[in-house]
Amino acid sequence: MHSNHPSGPFPAARTLSLTINGRRAQLEVEPWVTLLDLLRERIGLTGTKKGCDHGQCGACTVLVDGRRINACLALALMQEGRAITTVEGLADGERLHPLQQAFIEHDAFQCGYCTPGQLCSALGLIAEGQAHSADEVRELMSGNICRCGAYPQIVRAVTQVMGLPPDSERAHGPVVTGTVPG
Ligand code: FES
Ligand code: FES
Repeated sequence: MHSNHPSGPFPAARTLSLTINGRRAQLEVEPWVTLLDLLRERIGLTGTKKGCDHGQCGACTVLVDGRRINACLALALMQEGRAITTVEGLADGERLHPLQQAFIEHDAFQCGYCTPGQLCSALGLIAEGQAHSADEVRELMSGNICRCGAYPQIVRAVTQVMGLPPDSERAHGPVVTGTVPG
């Protein structure tokens, strides 16, 4: 019979040193622990969400050395020496990050489950410097799924922070072209 589990003793935990939201941390971590589980279950930073756990939804997006990644696909031990930023690290004390403020102003969430990932993804997107229009924001954040469908408001919030023109056409619903058959 076949099993995915190793039959011998499990590999030993190793010491991991990294920085999380500006604070140094040192932990003993087993080789199979993902960065997402490390953050949520070992460190108690539950702002980062687990949606699919398979790299499909973006709910777990965090920044590693300023670059956005899906934390569910990253092994914790691979992050040795790196600087992790989660949604808990965005505000400056009581002062919200401009992206957080813009999400509130534009009602860019409903249930809020995807929001931590959207915020971190937007922060990474801004740092990448590849988006120059609302369409490009939409395209480059397409890995962040919102089941509540708050996309127009999310795009508005992000474009406002980036100083890009608002996406007025799509914000009011899809443009329908062509004729209806029958
Ligand atoms: Fe990581 Fe969905 S939980 S991409
Ligand atoms: Fe509910 Fe995006 S606000 S999933």
